[in-house]
Amino acid sequence: MRATPDTIPDILQDYKRIRARTERICAPLRAEDHVPQPVIDVSPPKWHMAHTTWFFETFILKKFLLGYKPFHHLYNYIFNSYYESIGDRVLRENRGFLSRPTVEEILDYRAYVDEQMEELVDCLLPEQEAEFMKFFTIGLQHEQQHQELLITDIKYILGHNPLRPEYEKGHLAVEVDTEYTIPEAVYLPVKGGLHTIGYIGESFAWDNEKPAHQVYINDFKIQNRLVTNAEYMKFMYDGGYHNFRYWLSEAWGLVEAEKWEAPMYWQRIDGEWLQYTLHGLQYIDPNAPVTHISFFEADAYASWAGKRLLTEAEWEIAVQQYKPKLSMQAFADAEIYQPQPLDVKADYATTCHQLMGDVWEWTYSGYFPYPGYKREEGALGEYNGKFMINQMVMRGGSCATPMDHIRPTYRNFFPADKKWQFTGIRLAE
Ligand SMILES: [Fe+2]
Repeated sequence: MRATPDTIPDILQDYKRIRARTERICAPLRAEDHVPQPVIDVSPPKWHMAHTTWFFETFILKKFLLGYKPFHHLYNYIFNSYYESIGDRVLRENRGFLSRPTVEEILDYRAYVDEQMEELVDCLLPEQEAEFMKFFTIGLQHEQQHQELLITDIKYILGHNPLRPEYEKGHLAVEVDTEYTIPEAVYLPVKGGLHTIGYIGESFAWDNEKPAHQVYINDFKIQNRLVTNAEYMKFMYDGGYHNFRYWLSEAWGLVEAEKWEAPMYWQRIDGEWLQYTLHGLQYIDPNAPVTHISFFEADAYASWAGKRLLTEAEWEIAVQQYKPKLSMQAFADAEIYQPQPLDVKADYATTCHQLMGDVWEWTYSGYFPYPGYKREEGALGEYNGKFMINQMVMRGGSCATPMDHIRPTYRNFFPADKKWQFTGIRLAE
C-alpha cells in the first residue's frame, strides 16, 4: 500500500486502533503483574508494551523523522529483543529483573512515540512513502504478534500464581455444559496431487510465507473438528502419559523428568479436573478444544488414537478446499481468550470446522524456509529467517490472535515442548 493524502488518515486510524488494543490488554493488570518473568519464554507485560514501541522508534522514527530525539538513550539497550544488527541488549532471561522503567514511564514512552509517529506521517516526503509503508506495516503486524504473546504471558504469570487471580473483574467465562457431548468426529476427504501453497497476493504477508510453490500430497482424510478435552481425557485415563510407546524419545525423557500428566493449567482438586482460564479456575469443558499442549503431546495423542497430525502443506490445502469462514468468536476480538466448544449445526458432518481461530494446530512439519526463500536485507532479515531450525509449524491462529492478523498461509512456529500458547490438535488419517 502507498501512503497518499487519502490513505494517511486510514493508516493513522489503524495505528491508533492497534496501539490502543495493546494498552487495553494491559489495563486490568496491577503494577506488580507487569514485572515477573517466571520462565524465560514469558516476558513481563510492561516489556512487551515498551518493546513494541521501541520497534517503531528504531525502525521508523530514527530512520525517517529528521532530528528525532529518542525518548531515553538506554531504552534501545533495554528493549531490543534479538536484533544483533541493532546492538547490545539486556539478555532475554534478564527481562524480569527490570523494576524500572515503571509502567507509568513506559506509558509515557508509548505516548511520546505515538505523537512523533503522527508528526512523521504529517510531514512524510513522497520519496519516503514506499519504504515508510513497508516498515510501518511490519510495525503494526509485529505489535499484533505481541498482543497474542501478552495474553499468553499474562495467563502464565497469573495462572502460575497460587492465588489463581482472575485477569479482570467479570472477565467473560465460557459456559460449561457437562450434560451434552459433541458428535463423534468425521474424517473428510482432501484431494491429493500437485497443489500450490504459500502466499500469493498484494496484501501483507511475512517473508516466511513466500514464495508460493508447488507441493505434491497424497489423498488423505482430515478430522472435521478439533480434538476435545473429553477426548484428551480418555488418552490420560488410558495411561497415555505412562506408556512410552506413544512418545518420541526426546518427549518421553521430558514426560518422565518433568512428570507430565495433563495439559498446562489443568489441576486436580478433590478428584476433579479444573483448568485455569483468565476467568479463574473453571471445570473442564468436555466439548471445548483441548489446549495448552506441546507438539510432543499432540503427537503422542495422535499415536494413541491410531491417527497422525497433518503436515503444514496438507493443512493449507484442506483450507483451500473447505474454505472456512472466519468467526469473531474464535479470535482475540471476542476478548474471551479461551477456545469455545463447536456450535454443532446441520453442516456438521460435511464441513471442516474450527480451522481458523480457537487454537493453533500443531503440524508435523519442521519450520524451514520454503524453496526459493530469501532473507530480507538489513535488520528485518533477522525477523523470521534466523529461527528456521528446531521448531515445529502451527497453523490457523487462536483465541488470542487478532482476527485481522491471520491468513491461511500464516506460519507460526514454536519448539516441540512448549505449551503456553493456545495450541491444539487436529488429526488426519
Ligand atoms: Fe518483537
